[in-house]
Amino acid sequence: MTIDIVTLFPEMFENFLNTSIIKRAITKELVKINIHNLRDYSNYKNKQVDEYPYGGGAGMVLMCEPVFNAVEALKKENTKVIMTTPSGITYNQDTAINLSKETHLIILCGHYEGFDERIRTICDCEISIGNYVLTGGEIPAMVITDSVTRLINGVISKESLISESFNNGLLDYPNYTKPEVFKGMKVPEVLLSGHHQKIDEYRHSEQVKKTNELKNK
Ligand code: ADE
Repeated sequence: MTIDIVTLFPEMFENFLNTSIIKRAITKELVKINIHNLRDYSNYKNKQVDEYPYGGGAGMVLMCEPVFNAVEALKKENTKVIMTTPSGITYNQDTAINLSKETHLIILCGHYEGFDERIRTICDCEISIGNYVLTGGEIPAMVITDSVTRLINGVISKESLISESFNNGLLDYPNYTKPEVFKGMKVPEVLLSGHHQKIDEYRHSEQVKKTNELKNK
């Protein structure tokens, strides 16, 4: 899987690519993540990428030309082009699973007042990571890249992914580790019993309880 991210702020990705599981996945060549500066695709001498909107209005809009240039330069036969925008479909685990089956993603990070409308014609999908407005598409691009990368074969243990896929829309069960008693709070007895069937039953009932509690909040 290759992920090409087109952004006005490549420096935002430095720590992201050099930390923990993402760094390891890159080192093990399970994923290739390339960061591209949108300004490098501008045909203007001053590397301009944005302009005032026709008809007036607040802020600046990302122009067609640099974005089209970037996509045309990076696109391959089986590429999925993603636009990050607060008006896109809301991102969830099912979308992450579907994207993890692709071989090549291009993620376009929005900025300012968004994209020239005509850029939509070269995108396969528009993704929002939630109903709030961020200053740009860099954090959404990291969210998508992180959630997709961890689903790629070999990035995290099969056991972790299997237990997630068996969640069937339920929240995770609560986990405990050493010590058995901390500030008077005890680890549930059943988890110390070594009785695997009882542990599974306990965990399932906790998942149902937690999920119902959240629904009723
Ligand atoms: N750009 C600004 N806010 C966003 C959001 N919530 N999701 C995706 N892209 C965005």
